[in-house]
Amino acid sequence: MLLPKKGNIPTPLDVQRKRLPIYQAKPQLLNQLRQLPSAILIGETGSGKTTQIPQYLYEAGIGRQGVIAITQPRRVAAISLAGRVAEETRTSLGKLVGYTVRFEDVTSSETKLKFMTDGMLLREAIGDPLMLRYTVVVLDEAHERTMHTDVLFGVVKTAQRRRRELNKVPLKVIVMSATMDVDLFSDYFNKSPVLYLEGRQHPIQIYYTKQPQSDYLQAALITIFQIHQEAPPSHDILVFMTGQEEIEALARTCRDISKHLPDGCGPMLVIALYASLPPAQQLRVFQPAPKGCRKVILSTNIAETSVTISGIKYVIDTGMVKSKRFNPDSGLEILAVQRVSKAQAWQRAGRAGREDSGLCYRLYTEDEFDKLIPMTVPEIQRCNLSGVILHLMALGIPDVLNFDFMSKPLPGAIHAAVVQLELLGALEKKEQQVTLTALGKKMASFPLEPRYAKAILLSPDFSCSEEVLGIVSLLSVDTVLYNPPTRRDEVLAARRKFTSSEGDHMTLLNIYRAFKKVSGNKEWCRENFVNSRNMGLVKAVQAQLREICLKLNMKLESCGSDTVSVRRCLAHGMFVNAAELQPDGSYVALDSHQSVAVHPSSVLFQAKPAYVVFNELLHTSRCYMRDLCLVDAEWLVDAAPEYFSRKLRHAKS
Ligand code: CDP
Ligand code: MG
Repeated sequence: MLLPKKGNIPTPLDVQRKRLPIYQAKPQLLNQLRQLPSAILIGETGSGKTTQIPQYLYEAGIGRQGVIAITQPRRVAAISLAGRVAEETRTSLGKLVGYTVRFEDVTSSETKLKFMTDGMLLREAIGDPLMLRYTVVVLDEAHERTMHTDVLFGVVKTAQRRRRELNKVPLKVIVMSATMDVDLFSDYFNKSPVLYLEGRQHPIQIYYTKQPQSDYLQAALITIFQIHQEAPPSHDILVFMTGQEEIEALARTCRDISKHLPDGCGPMLVIALYASLPPAQQLRVFQPAPKGCRKVILSTNIAETSVTISGIKYVIDTGMVKSKRFNPDSGLEILAVQRVSKAQAWQRAGRAGREDSGLCYRLYTEDEFDKLIPMTVPEIQRCNLSGVILHLMALGIPDVLNFDFMSKPLPGAIHAAVVQLELLGALEKKEQQVTLTALGKKMASFPLEPRYAKAILLSPDFSCSEEVLGIVSLLSVDTVLYNPPTRRDEVLAARRKFTSSEGDHMTLLNIYRAFKKVSGNKEWCRENFVNSRNMGLVKAVQAQLREICLKLNMKLESCGSDTVSVRRCLAHGMFVNAAELQPDGSYVALDSHQSVAVHPSSVLFQAKPAYVVFNELLHTSRCYMRDLCLVDAEWLVDAAPEYFSRKLRHAKS
């Protein structure tokens, strides 16, 4: 008998691959995908779209002349999926299968299957609008409608058409979605066919509360322990919540309570899951709990579609999500906790029925459910568009204001973005024609929000490029600070050494400088509650930003201890997000005249300086400014004289 060749022995992974719902459909799928220039593919989360389609295409020789790109809205997803597919293909990551996310590129000339964030593919298109290195672009998780995916729709469609006109290698576009509402996608791609994957969804029993809940966290806590007391321990629970802080707080409460349960109640393993968690900790959700122990996962909407966790029998849906909202009148973007859409609620419930029938507890009434909006509003209709507009102009799109968006942004939003870019000096408007200025072109070379790019570009004028590059890098990675809630006092004591009365940016810079001084010593990081991995990333990001600066022939200097120059420079980039102290001790955002408050996490919480610039607005019980920097009114006026002459209280009087 012929023994199978070494390497061809089926591994448990091979067996798993063949059990996926998509495997049955492989021949028909390939048949269709081979012929169609564009296709839409729908399949339940976990059916195997993301991990299998790229492999199927490659094995069948489709798109082999070039690279197959698979976009993901989240960088964690891009990284972990690339890892999984490399494993399945028995290759090492960065060879056949690789990934590219902002500030990290794990690909080589051999890479044929390239997982990347949607933002990265968009950036690449600046240098290569026809996307010639790709033969297939898979726009994955399209139902999420992130801003970058939405813009990519237009860019990819244009590239596909242009390549046809120029007789170049055709570009195949595959749009993948976990939800059924794909008419819009199909219409946009010239009525391309929709391929449905047979689902493997088991029935799910839905429960609503009888009364509206005023405190969804309390309701979640009660529900978790009710289930825990009644259900067999092998039934895991997934709770959808809004963000890191409340997840960590509830996790702590659950752990405390579970230590004091009556006999007969088994142990509980509580795991937090959110995007900014270090990858090693994120992987914990995939590991089974010890026998006899129940796994309780507290997650943001990241577990709705991007990651699949096995063993979930119960879903608890708070009905809330943290997402961005945009006020086109002011151009201000606010991060706020709000109700989910019906589509999201169904997606969450679906997580309970992956392997067997499941149960979903909605912590709201059926009436409240009926009032939810049907679909999540695409990000492009609720975000500040200044970055997108700058990007499209850099792509050389001729008429940006009339770009072929799949869903049109709000009429005021494009205008607000143009105004903001004009204020920043990136655009010029001449008789209804907007053009990119020399500064604007340079701004677009940075993978950053326009205001941060502007601060960097101005930094040589203030001789503080090293500092500004450091600060912008710190703001570009997930938080470098580690705040275990159980050790609050120790954290505060450790932080005090670095706290600057000039605000959060300068405090972060102090921590970064100290980190570099000890060469990233692990012990130092632990003692000072600094996330050493993210800090390491900051250094890498700074190195990359520095490279871009050098290409632009910028003179990079350090201003040493002259913190005034740094703050001046930040004021020149971030002046659109400025706020002024009022006589009654409150703050008003100068752009929108909206009342705002200093977030309790800021080092300026008690200081009440007259003027600040801030990174973002967070709306919870009220509207909070997060990450603040103390500035002088004169600097703001200096940065945008005309604009601020109308805005400042003291300038008016
Ligand atoms: O894209 P889709 O949601 O349809 O599924 P997928 O991401 O291709 O995942 C298919 C299956 O692969 C999942 O059900 C998981 O069991 C497994 N998988 C995994 O174990 N680890 C990963 N990092 C990704 C997928
Ligand atoms: Mg997927």
